[in-house]
Amino acid sequence: MLNLWYKNAVIYCVDVETFMDSNGDGIGDFGGLADRLDHVEALGATCIWLVPFYPTPNRDNGYDVTDFYAVDPRLGTLGDFVAFTHAAHDRGLRVIVDLVANHTSIDHPWFQEARQDPNSRYRDWYVWSKEKPENIHEGVVFPGVQDATWTYDEVAQAWYMHRFYPHQADLNIANPEVRAELEKVMGFWLQLGVSGFRLDAVPFLIEYRGVPEEERPKEDPHEYLDRMRDFVSWRRAEAMLLAEANITMDQVDEYFGPTGDRLHMIFNFMLNQHLFLALSRNDAEPIRRVMAQTPAIPPKSQWASFLRNHDELDLGRLSDAERGEAFAAFGPEPEMQAYERGIRRRLAPMLEGDDRRLKQAFSLMFALPGTPVLWYGDEIGMGEDLSLPERNSVRTPMQWADEPNAGFSNGSAGRLVRPVVSAGAFGYERVNVAAQRDLDGSMMSTVQRLARTRRACPEVGWGRCQVLDTNETSVLALRYDWEGETILILHNLADRTVEVRVALEGIERLRPLLCDQDDRAMHDASDPISLNPYGYRWLRAQGERR
Ligand code: NOJ
Ligand code: CA
Repeated sequence: MLNLWYKNAVIYCVDVETFMDSNGDGIGDFGGLADRLDHVEALGATCIWLVPFYPTPNRDNGYDVTDFYAVDPRLGTLGDFVAFTHAAHDRGLRVIVDLVANHTSIDHPWFQEARQDPNSRYRDWYVWSKEKPENIHEGVVFPGVQDATWTYDEVAQAWYMHRFYPHQADLNIANPEVRAELEKVMGFWLQLGVSGFRLDAVPFLIEYRGVPEEERPKEDPHEYLDRMRDFVSWRRAEAMLLAEANITMDQVDEYFGPTGDRLHMIFNFMLNQHLFLALSRNDAEPIRRVMAQTPAIPPKSQWASFLRNHDELDLGRLSDAERGEAFAAFGPEPEMQAYERGIRRRLAPMLEGDDRRLKQAFSLMFALPGTPVLWYGDEIGMGEDLSLPERNSVRTPMQWADEPNAGFSNGSAGRLVRPVVSAGAFGYERVNVAAQRDLDGSMMSTVQRLARTRRACPEVGWGRCQVLDTNETSVLALRYDWEGETILILHNLADRTVEVRVALEGIERLRPLLCDQDDRAMHDASDPISLNPYGYRWLRAQGERR
């Protein structure tokens, strides 16, 4: 039986290390996370995505794994993991976990054995070259901090391939033993109760870069994703694969699969980048443009919509001029930028803490076709710490209260895994959960209302979406139709009041669902609709029938 729960979910992403410390050692842990599930539940999330929590030397925030079958001892034990998933399930929350299948840490025992012994069974689990490969500087993912994609290993006396940092050696995915091992890894976590995986770096995972032609599987590389899908579905019907794949619209079909039997979900990076371009211009045109280019996807497939995540805001798909506009608006200082393509800031400071713009940005995320994914802390408007290296700027401890260490830990401040953001407009003294809980109009309660409304509008997750024409380019007008119901969602990206007319065939009246201002009156569908500066309205159509 298919279980398509992800079509109408709200996903909340957590880094266990920085969410809540339960034992005062300054490091967030599973005990702390289990303790704070009330926050996630109250927010209206239905699923928690955990970024890597496996044993790691932590040179890439856990994306450098040394054991796929264990929990980083700093965060707890496998027992604590199970206690946490149990508590999450108890509250109706699903759990998905990051699967870093593209590479391991070079500290992983597999790599250690592989480099030391050319006859080791693990040698071919990685990608080697005796000769110095050509163009070793080509294809780096982190320009500025990563110099090459091949590194010479003195011990192995050979070069190994790494799409990411040199401490992350790529696994040889063409090797059937590696594929079998990855199935065991997935089977292990599914057996422990997870509902799926956020698949790291999918385009890199399925490329055979550096693997000799004769050793490559003869099938289309995307078909490996079919194998993964089949495996997880056979083990657990509801298992879902959410892909990190920054793809262009011409690749959509091959990633979702022609009949939607490949990846269940894909982060919509194209839409994300154009959304920020639109916000920088106060004009919805870039969003309309991408939506017009987006092919229809099979009913079982789903986009993941997001604003910010644990990485930089990647603007690499915009033209140079467009990226320049977004940089100027949201990250003008060189220290705010990363890897020549992105912005290493959180949402709230990018929008200068402007309440109206922030709430509208969240409303947009919930309204776009797909399933929304939130990065912890954004729901209260946390800021970043640019003194931390690279993407760690957006990974500071959760701000729970105006208490020492922001209520994140009762250990000494000097021992915290990362300093809390303090003082200023985004410091924990002002921006924290306790100050916003149950406070009408706070960022957090707005996100709560949005999550509740979105879940009550399955049309957005399931329905056919049309972008309607209006007389204002600053307005994004979305119409969703599903099972005889129609939803209309309007956003005005401009800093001025507008009145729009939209042609709504077959609709007589509109009932307000959610709005940036008090709005309880029924609307006649033929009347113009007014929108505040940075305003938004969610409406449900009432036909003649009702
Ligand atoms: C994508 C992850 O989101 C990022 O944080 C990580 O550095 C790379 N993949 C490598 O695993
Ligand atoms: Ca701890």
